[in-house]
Amino acid sequence: MITLGDKQFEKYLSATDVQHAVNGVAVRIGDDFKDKNPVFLVVLNGAFFFAADLIKRFTYPCELSFIKVASYEGLHSSGDISTVMGAEPSLKGRHVIVVEDIVDSGNTIEAIIEILNQEQVASYAIASLFYKPEAYLKSFPLDYVGMEIEDRFIVGYGLDYNGLGRNLKDIYILKAKQMTNLVLFGPPGAGKGTQAALIKDRYELVHISTGDVFRYNMKNNTELGQAAKAYMDRGDLVPDSLTIDMLRAEVEKNPQAKGFIFDGFPRTEAQAAALDELLESMNSSVSGCVALEVDTEILVERLLERGKTSGRADDQDESKIRNRFDEYNEKTAVLKEYYRNQDKFHAVDGVGSIDEITARLTAVIDQL
Ligand code: IMP
Ligand code: MG
Repeated sequence: MITLGDKQFEKYLSATDVQHAVNGVAVRIGDDFKDKNPVFLVVLNGAFFFAADLIKRFTYPCELSFIKVASYEGLHSSGDISTVMGAEPSLKGRHVIVVEDIVDSGNTIEAIIEILNQEQVASYAIASLFYKPEAYLKSFPLDYVGMEIEDRFIVGYGLDYNGLGRNLKDIYILKAKQMTNLVLFGPPGAGKGTQAALIKDRYELVHISTGDVFRYNMKNNTELGQAAKAYMDRGDLVPDSLTIDMLRAEVEKNPQAKGFIFDGFPRTEAQAAALDELLESMNSSVSGCVALEVDTEILVERLLERGKTSGRADDQDESKIRNRFDEYNEKTAVLKEYYRNQDKFHAVDGVGSIDEITARLTAVIDQL
């Protein structure tokens, strides 16, 4: 992955792939123009690498001219094309091969064709190294295309993002925006709530605490809440499918979210698989499972200390505290394994100041 300005790009095509595409165009143009003494009209700036490699492979008489038009700002064409530098010398009566790096909307090519018509050329043909058929809005045929690509932004081999990246030998593509979905684990007293709140703000994530979601649905007597209550009243466990439905509703309430922190869920392997399915249906996935780890003895002490002031009964009895840890360790062991198998498990040392722990968490999350 590389960074250009404020954007990240990942490798898309190798220099060799590019050379194959250039070759293909060169062979076809050679066949068609060997006895026509064409003028290659190179569209600056992006096409300069392509033009250099292409024209070197055209081993017949030819001439060279340049034109510069401007329309692109950042990632998008403004649609407004202005001629910055016209073709020299006159193209009147000549066979012109326009050499372009990439055809996207087709606005640039349209403007150039207009210029060629004014110049009264004998004929023209369009050669573009790349072409985005899904983005093309015009109907002019493109005579020579090196490679069709999907409608995404690329850089390298002459193509730029705000002036950067032209010197790259390979082609890179703008990284698709990915959601950051975290599964957060932490034993009682490890500071999970504090860290979840900080992480949520920092990455603009939505924190979904399963406990809160249940309480919300019960309290507001939602359909899902009523269904859950019916199971509980019968003394049955709420089935995973119902919990997942509640989470789905929560996720769907936040369509603009940059991602979610799942807290208190999943608790079983089946739930983890159900969560994967839910996220997959949104074209996303769990980015990582992050577990705050603190030595049990330290936590027991912390909780007993908290019990003295908080008055929480469950924080005052050491054997009950130890039971909660045993339960936590037992339940999370299988999930750690689940995420470890997917290379998504990250243990984070939970001993230290709040800032120190946040820094460790962000170091992990930034790498996801
Ligand atoms: P069009 O006028 O929309 O067809 O865009 C053509 C011009 O926009 C090209 O000559 C490039 O300068 C620029 N362009 C279009 N797509 C890309 C891209 O993916 N990366 C870099 N420049 C691009
Ligand atoms: Mg260009």
